Amino acid sequence: MSEFDTQLVHGTPQHDNDTGAVNVPIYASSTFIFPTVDSQVKWDYARSGNPTRNYLEDQVATLEGGAKGFAFSSGLAAIHATLAIFSPGDHIIIGNTVYGGTFRLINQFFKRWHLEFTAVDTQDAEAVEAAVQPNTKAVYFETFTNPLLKVTSVKAIANIAKAHHLLTIVDNTFLTPYLQRPLTLGADIVVHSATKYLGGHSDVVAGIVVAKTQELADRIYFNQNGIGAVLSPEKSAQIRRGIQTLAVRLNRHLSNTAKIVDFLQSRDEIEKIYYPGIPGSKDYEIAKDETNGFGGIVSFELKKGLDAKKFVESLNLIQLAVSLGAVESLIELPYKMTHAELSEKEQLAVGITHQLVRLSVGIEDPKDLITDLAQGLAQL
Ligand SMILES: Cc1ncc(COP(=O)(O)O)c(C=O)c1O
Repeated sequence: MSEFDTQLVHGTPQHDNDTGAVNVPIYASSTFIFPTVDSQVKWDYARSGNPTRNYLEDQVATLEGGAKGFAFSSGLAAIHATLAIFSPGDHIIIGNTVYGGTFRLINQFFKRWHLEFTAVDTQDAEAVEAAVQPNTKAVYFETFTNPLLKVTSVKAIANIAKAHHLLTIVDNTFLTPYLQRPLTLGADIVVHSATKYLGGHSDVVAGIVVAKTQELADRIYFNQNGIGAVLSPEKSAQIRRGIQTLAVRLNRHLSNTAKIVDFLQSRDEIEKIYYPGIPGSKDYEIAKDETNGFGGIVSFELKKGLDAKKFVESLNLIQLAVSLGAVESLIELPYKMTHAELSEKEQLAVGITHQLVRLSVGIEDPKDLITDLAQGLAQL
């Protein structure tokens, strides 16, 4: 098999048309011909399967090292289809700082369907083990949490999960298979908001699930086809294209982020930096062991008394917006924007203060990004 960076560019050739097209065509077809009534056709109806979507699904399955991939119309649709493999009365342990939309799906949707959840700090393996109940079926977490970049060991959780016959489900949005392949570290299912790094250009909302085994793949496929939140052929082609440049984009995200972290460390206005690439923390040790890089998101706290709103609003190049993982740099205040659904008490309990800023570092020239941050800080 070819090297990972080559696999990003070349998925499995479909050889399904005689035009010689280098890329898989966008099959804008909702239905497909049966040569005869009794024909066993590979494609019959596009919710059940579409060749363009299938190319993307095979591409991500290979990159993550799983049996089968599935593409959805959003990251949350992917998470919904994953958690919907469980049944009423099942219990799932979730990371206590998972993406807010995942919490909303759990608290305001799946609990009504009688799935039970316990939220724990998944960096603390003992806390995870202590939360296991007779009806526990899975542990679900993000390896790098948002916005404080606390790192969970996939190996540690997968070991506990295996001992208790639980599934390990990892949201790999922040790292992508370029930086971490959870299935190779013991996880069973990986989910993505492909809206972020996989797409990479802030122009598509999409989700991905990859299952390690065919048995799990069959359960996810049932939900993909049965619930039906599939990714369109057009959007599938856009995510496929995004994936082709994943390595080059992430290399630049990583080097830009390292330079910005150095810059922030040199500034008196900064109280604290949250980035797993800074040595001396448990996060650094786990990330060093289990990832190929520390990611393109950095959060930092401004010193007390400095106006965080004024800072983010004063930037010229770095845009004030939620989301992350795209070519352009985006900045936001978690307490007001991405994590506004939490009460102030809940925010403070997980370390989200009014001084906290989250920066998704893009692939611009790092000198311009640092100049922009410097002029913003100079205004405080
Ligand atoms: C870690 C993580 N998982 C899942 C999602 C949900 O994905 P989507 O917005 O594509 O539905 C997000 C969105 O921000 C996210 O950051």
